[in-house]
Amino acid sequence: MTEQPDIHPRKELLDRVAVITGAASGIGLAITRRFVQEGAKVALWDFNVARLEQAKEALRQSADEEQLFLVTCDITKDEDVVAGMKSTVDHFGRLNIAVNNAGVSVSVPSDECTLEQWNWVMNVNCTGSFLVSREAIKVFKQQADGGVLVYTNSDNSLKPSKHFLAYNASKAAVLHMARTIANEFGPHHIRANSVLPGAVFGGSQMWTQELRQARADLHGYSADALEEEYKKANALGVIIDPAEIAELVVFLASDRSAKMTGNALVIDGGGLGGFVR
Ligand SMILES: NC(=O)c1ccc[n+]([C@@H]2O[C@H](COP(=O)([O-])OP(=O)(O)OC[C@H]3O[C@@H](n4cnc5c(N)ncnc54)[C@H](O)[C@@H]3O)[C@@H](O)[C@H]2O)c1
Repeated sequence: MTEQPDIHPRKELLDRVAVITGAASGIGLAITRRFVQEGAKVALWDFNVARLEQAKEALRQSADEEQLFLVTCDITKDEDVVAGMKSTVDHFGRLNIAVNNAGVSVSVPSDECTLEQWNWVMNVNCTGSFLVSREAIKVFKQQADGGVLVYTNSDNSLKPSKHFLAYNASKAAVLHMARTIANEFGPHHIRANSVLPGAVFGGSQMWTQELRQARADLHGYSADALEEEYKKANALGVIIDPAEIAELVVFLASDRSAKMTGNALVIDGGGLGGFVR
């Protein structure tokens, strides 16, 4: 019998170079923490300079100084993304993983969504992911071993919640972006997979008081009850933790998922009333 490979090696991202967008807070910061624990070198991309510095401080326990590289970058700007990718590759010498994580949302009735709100959400979630993916693929294609794209998407890409028109549409587009890339660049050893979380409150800056109030108003309860009410909306009665999303991203970035591409892994506590996949 041939020896089976160890599928849970320690430091399974050792010396892999990753870009993580929106790395300064919430889910992006949790992904960054797990990546550096697994030995990766991470370029933290975010446009919030103060939060980037706070993130570096927060990672002091988990990371060696040389594992982190802060990149101030607005992913909606072509020139920022091109420059960010160049500085990342110049700094670390290569790129193995790009995590498209930065995202924003706005909750309004669909017939009241302004063009400004629509453009903001589509630009960050959709155009930003496109620009980062495009520049990452250019680097991956020059490398014999290709590279990995992972997208922090949302269960809203499959289950469109009311009052989330721009968010739902942007996330559905990015789901197909990942699948298109998976189809097109398999021969270059490039994989593209998505993680689709349900609501994640821990550390998230996206859940402003305004967003909490808007979602609570929509469902008809108080903003203070939001998290408890969200638990009732899934089969397991749970809220998802950023670290649990990070676990899936590590898996999809690692060799354990070497034969998976074009996939979408849902982590939402189980959708009541059906499991759309
Ligand atoms: N929190 C949730 O309930 C939830 C659920 C499902 C999916 N998601 C997705 O997870 C991702 C991360 O969400 P989060 O809750 O951690 O949010 P967050 O607001 O805590 O983090 C997002 C980060 O993206 C950065 N960012 C925003 N616009 C940017 C831009 N133009 N250029 C560069 N950086 C920019 C912000 O500065 C911030 O640090 C998003 O894509 C979101 O859609 C979140």
